[in-house]
Amino acid sequence: MRVNQRTVDVPEAWTGASLLSFLRDHLGLTGTKFGCGKGLCGACTVHLDGTAVRSCLTPVSAVGDAAVTTIEGLGGERATHPVQRAWHELAVPQCGYCQAGQMMSAAALLTRDGAPSEESITQAMEGNLCRCGTYPRIRKAIHRAAAIERGEAPQGAE
Ligand code: FES
Ligand code: FES
Repeated sequence: MRVNQRTVDVPEAWTGASLLSFLRDHLGLTGTKFGCGKGLCGACTVHLDGTAVRSCLTPVSAVGDAAVTTIEGLGGERATHPVQRAWHELAVPQCGYCQAGQMMSAAALLTRDGAPSEESITQAMEGNLCRCGTYPRIRKAIHRAAAIERGEAPQGAE
C-alpha cells in the first residue's frame, strides 16, 4: 500500500481490517481519529487519490493501488498544507479531536474548487461533526486556506 508517499507492507493478518485500524494500530499514524466507526462523524477522514473517504468504512482490501494520504502526510513536500496554515493562524481547534478529519475534508474540497462558495463548503463539510462547535472558524479557515493557496495571503497575515 502507498501511504503518505511511501510504500508499506500489509501483513496478511491486516487484510481484513479497516483502513482506520491499519493506519492507527499497525502504522502508528494516530492523527487519524476513531470517532463513531460507522461513517457518521468524519473523524477518520483520509484521502484516497485525493478524494476524502471515511477510513473506518474502507477495508484495507479495497485500497488497492490508490494513494492514501493522512493528516501526517497532507503537506507533502511543502511540509505544511495551506489548510494547516490557515487552521493554525485562525486557531480553529478546540479539543482538537475532530480536526484532522475536518482538515482532510477541507483539503479535498480545495483540490476540487479553489474558491469554494458557502454552499460548496456546507456540502463538503456536512459529514464532519465537531462536538465543540468550531464550525464558524472552520468555515473562515477554509476561505483563508483558499486565499493562501491562491497566493493572496502572506504568511502570518491577519
Ligand atoms: S469514525 Fe469514521 S466516520 Fe466516524
Ligand atoms: S474541536 Fe473538539 S470535537 Fe471538534
